[in-house]
Order: sequence, then structure tokens, then C-alpha cells
Amino acid sequence: MHKKVATNVFWQDGVVTREDRIRLLRQTGLTIWFTGLSGSGKTTLAIALEQQLLSQDKASYRLDGDNMRFGINKNLGFSAEDRRENIRRVGEVSKVLADAGIIALSSFISPYREDRDSVRALHERTGLRFLEVYVDCTLETAESRDPKGLYKKARRGEIKNFTGIDDPYEAPVNADIHLRSDHMTVAEEVMAVMTYLHQNDLLNPKSILSERSGKYDD
Ligand code: ADX
Repeated sequence: MHKKVATNVFWQDGVVTREDRIRLLRQTGLTIWFTGLSGSGKTTLAIALEQQLLSQDKASYRLDGDNMRFGINKNLGFSAEDRRENIRRVGEVSKVLADAGIIALSSFISPYREDRDSVRALHERTGLRFLEVYVDCTLETAESRDPKGLYKKARRGEIKNFTGIDDPYEAPVNADIHLRSDHMTVAEEVMAVMTYLHQNDLLNPKSILSERSGKYDD
């Protein structure tokens, strides 16, 4: 965990609350975090889920490992330390989106359990829901897909510290949702996540508001 180095800074609360935003947007924010090997299908699932949520009038926003490394994380590589900082930053961004009322769909290999747990704790400390979705497939499957040709390069030694080849992946022990992308279709995966969201009443602003304040005005 990084220590805060800025001094003489003060947290400032506003007047508009998270509950106000839930009422305004008629939805509640949360983070759905997809973890798994490169090529396991995290991004494909997030893209399909984003469409499904839109069709149910729910606003979501995708954060993606590759994409974030073009901008906010362009100064980070793939050492354990850089991956930790990558996950810390995108965890903070996910939390901001969730707090704003958006469903953050965050797809990152996020190979270290401790880093993922820190992002969960960051959310839960402020009462935001964080769902860890393990997009699981065998290394053989991910490697046979190899959509970016990176496994081949890693096998040839042209990429160092490639997750699953010469860098670790710590599988979740207690994921909220465990998907086998080598046995399921994308549609089945979307269905599994949507079912979880509905069964846990996570798309229903009324239930979240009544949990918090006991009232919800239509
Ligand atoms: S993480 O480990 O820090 O969570 P992240 O999800 O942001 O990784 O980025 C992973 C993507 O970066 C992969 O899908 C792949 O396209 C690319 N990549 C480049 N080098 C590596 C590497 N050494 N290990 C894993 N992915 C890499």
C-alpha cells in the first residue's frame, strides 16, 4: 500500500450525497472486477455486459488494462511493483465511477490477490459494492487463442514477465462469480453475471436506498 506523501491537504465533503445521485440516475454504482489471464475473455465479456446493461437502461463504463496503459498508466510496465500501482490507480478510478453512480466494468489481469483485495477494501470502506469475477480458463486455452500474438512472443523470450509464462497469476480463492470461459459461451457468462446482479438486488436503486435510509420516493 502506498503512503500518502501530500501534507496539508483536507478532505472536503459536498452537499449532494450518493443517495441523491442514486435517485437522480435511478441506479446505484458498483464495481464489477474481471480478473484472469491475458486472453481469458475479460474484455470480451465486459463489452457484452456493457451492451446488456444498456438494454436494461443501466449506465456502465468499461476500464480496460490495455486501454488504461495508453493514458493514466502509460508510465507503468509489468514488474510486480508497477502492476500493483496499475491496480491501485484503476481501483481508485473504479471507485470514483461507482461513487458517481456508474457500474464500473474493470478488466485487468490483476494477478496478485493482495492487490485485488486492496481494491475490494477501498470500495467496502465507503459502502460501495465490489464484485470479483474470475474469468477462468486454462493457460492452454488462453495460449491457443493468443489474440494479440503475445504468448508466442513470450514463449520465444521476446516478452519478459508475461503472466502465466514467466510471471505468476494468483487465482481468486473466493470470487463472487467464477466463470469458465473455456466451457461457457459469452452469452452464458453475461447471463450468469446478470442473474447474480438481479438475485442480489444490485440493480434496484430502491433496495439500496431503503438499506441506507429507509425511504425511496418514486
Ligand atoms: S496487470 O497485470 O497489470 O493487471 P493489465 O490488465 O493492466 O495487466 O494489462 C494486461 C495486458 O497488457 C495484456 O492483455 C497484454 O495485452 C498486455 N501485456 C503486455 N505485456 C504483458 C506482460 N508482461 N504480462 C501480461 N500482459 C502484458
